[in-house]
This record gives sequence, structure tokens and C-alpha cells, in this order.
Amino acid sequence: MKVGLLGHGVVGGGVRKIIDDGLTWEVRELEVKKILVRDASECIDPRTTLNADEILNDPEIDVIVECMGGLEPAHTYVRKALENGKYVVTSNKKMLATYCSELFDAARKNNVTVHYEAACGGGIPWMASLDRTRRVDDIISFRGIFNGTTNYILERMSREHSSFAEKLQEAQKLGYAEQDPSDDIDGHDVRYKVSLSCVKAFDTLQNIEDIAVFGIRNIREEDLAWCARNNLACKLLGSGEYYGDCISAYVMPVFLDNEDVFADIPLNFNAIESNSLTLGRAMFVGQGAGSLPTAHAVVQNIIDIVKNQDPEINDKHPVPVDNSRHEGCYYIRTADPSAFAGIKAEDISDTALLSRKVSLQEIVRLANQAEDDTLFIAEVRK
Ligand SMILES: NC(=O)c1ccc[n+]([C@@H]2O[C@H](COP(=O)([O-])OP(=O)(O)OC[C@H]3O[C@@H](n4cnc5c(N)ncnc54)[C@H](OP(=O)(O)O)[C@@H]3O)[C@@H](O)[C@H]2O)c1
Repeated sequence: MKVGLLGHGVVGGGVRKIIDDGLTWEVRELEVKKILVRDASECIDPRTTLNADEILNDPEIDVIVECMGGLEPAHTYVRKALENGKYVVTSNKKMLATYCSELFDAARKNNVTVHYEAACGGGIPWMASLDRTRRVDDIISFRGIFNGTTNYILERMSREHSSFAEKLQEAQKLGYAEQDPSDDIDGHDVRYKVSLSCVKAFDTLQNIEDIAVFGIRNIREEDLAWCARNNLACKLLGSGEYYGDCISAYVMPVFLDNEDVFADIPLNFNAIESNSLTLGRAMFVGQGAGSLPTAHAVVQNIIDIVKNQDPEINDKHPVPVDNSRHEGCYYIRTADPSAFAGIKAEDISDTALLSRKVSLQEIVRLANQAEDDTLFIAEVRK
């Protein structure tokens, strides 16, 4: 099977290497025929081109692997590939979560499929496991550490009692965090992954904006000190819960019991868990990013296409997000505690309080109303 590669950076370079190295007979059946690069200085390999149409219109190429990142031109190229009857594998969660509906329609019309294991959990076989579980079972819920950068920052802050700014800088130096880390620390990266997980887990496509998102940008040492005093660990979790007529879907820092399996997930690892009717809880831990782990997931998807193991495109059950169904107790640190007085269970300090049990929807409403750019909220699960 001939592959056209769009993007030859961290992930694309890994895909090219794994296919060129051909360690197994399955991989040796694949061939990278052409590689799109941006700059003539990158045209060292004879397969490289600066012209996307040379790849998208090549009748010998069956699969387009998109690992350029960003919305455009990735979206336009993927759409064109599907319209030309080519299968697509993408690692680009932002592009896919944004244009999911349109691209799935284009795939259906042209009798091909879109695969995105690497877009969600990097090297972890999370999407494949949802597909397998769904053959037998209904998924009730999922939760996960979907972002290694924030896990690294939170773990290091907790262990070393250091500041967010210091650990963010360290993560940037190690190459875990981008120069503009907003997508990671504000939870948007996890929101894309929760959206794609909802497609696989619950057959439902969601408007990304409907998924509640709270990040860790404002976390302080005093928040983690409270956590430690209460034998809790802080993790940024993405979650989805199925209620039949609706789902809840959200990204939120969570103060977990130290005994919880997620509490011990170290450094930049990802860990994702599904809960289904007959299998119960099943958890996957591994590298959520990195050149070869992520490329491994891309190549697995290409082999699925070769073996004709196309998952059904699951967006046929359009239930809405309703975050009033998820209830919890919340740690809230704010410049204006009076804005949360109506849901207060106890004071923690002059600026922090613990809420009584309330719906996530109510927390979102109060947080929007507060307009406090120092606000930090975490769900407390003791
Ligand atoms: N890195 C990971 O571990 C990881 C894990 C999971 C998912 N992902 C996702 O995978 C995607 C790629 O990530 P990455 O880390 O591989 O990024 P990257 O290292 O920046 O690679 C992207 C490559 O695509 C090239 N490119 C971008 N626009 C192009 C265009 N219009 N024409 C030709 N080439 C173009 C870039 O060239 P320039 O350098 O010239 O811009 C770069 O070489 C992203 O969506 C990311 O979120 C990454």
C-alpha cells in the first residue's frame, strides 16, 4: 500500500522511519511514496515535494497521512484526499475535532475512512480499544490524563513544591511544552481529545464549545499544599459519561485520592480508562506523545486499512452534552469568594472554599459570571 505523507516533522519523520525500517512483514507491505515539506531546503529525500497536489492527485497513493498540524491547509488537504477516494490517517486532533462532521461525511460519500488513533493518547491504543470494547459492550464512561505536558508540570510542582511558572519553563526546555503553551495549560488540547473520544465511545459528535473546560494556568503552590494535607493528588482529567439521553463531557483539574490509580501516573505519561458494562474498568498507560510512539499509532492505523479493519464511522447517535448531570464537590480559589457564597460548604482560607455537591453546569455558570482571571477550580474526589 502506497502512502503519501503530509508533514515531515516530529510525527511525520517517525512515520517515515518506521515504514522505511520495515521491521515486520506488515510494515514491509507499506511504502512512503511521497512526502510534502514546506521548504526547498528540506528536499533531501528524493520523495519530497513542495506541491501537495502531486500527492493528493497521485492515483497510486491509497492513504494520505496528515501530520502537519494546525487547521489550514491540513483541513483542505484532508478533505481533498477524501474526495479523491483516499483513506486518511491523521494525528491532528485540533483539525479533526473541529471539522469532524464535514470530514466524516466526505469519507462516507467517497467510501473511505478517517483514522485518528495518534490524535488521542499518542502511542496508547485508546481508540482501538474503544472500537474493540464497543463490539461487545456499551461504554458507560471514560476518564484520562490525555496531556503529558500538564501531567509533568503538576507532578513536578507537587513533588518539589515549586511554582507553576518554574515547572512550565522546565517543560518547555525539555521539549514537552510548546513556546505558546496555551492549548495545553488551558485544557483545549484535552478538549479536542475528549471530543474525539466521545465519537468512539458514545457514537456522538459534539460541538467542541459544549465541552466544559478548566485548565491549570492559575494553579498555585497553596492549592497543591491543600491537596497534600488532604492526601490528594492533582491531575488534569478529560472525562465523558453516558446517560442514555445525554452525555457529560468536560476537562477539569481533579484532586484525587492518593490511592486512585491515576494519582501515581508519572512525568509526561498519559493514562486513559474506559468503564463498560461487561469488561468493567480497563486502563491504558503509555507515551501520549513523542516521535516514534505517536508514529507507531499512525502506522497501526495504516495496517488496519490494509487489513480492511475499518471501524464504522460512529456519529449516528446525536445526544447532547448536558453537564447538569455530572455533580461533584469543588475546590474554588478566587479573588472574590462572595461570587461562590451560594454553593459554599466550608471556607478553606480567605480566598479558597470547598463547595457543597453541585452540578458541573452550575460551576461553569458561576465561573463565567465571576470574570476572575486568577480563578482556579478543581473537583475534589475523596
Ligand atoms: N509531537 C507529538 O508527540 C504529537 C503527538 C500526538 C499528536 N501530535 C499532532 O501531530 C501533528 C504534527 O505534530 P508534530 O509534532 O509532528 O509537528 P511538527 O514537528 O511541527 O511537524 C509538522 C511538520 O509539518 C510541516 N508543515 C506544516 N504546514 C505545512 C505546509 N503547509 N506544507 C508543508 N509542510 C508543512 C512543518 O513544517 P515547518 O516546520 O516548516 O512548519 C513540520 O515539518 C499536530 O497536529 C500534533 O498536535 C503530535
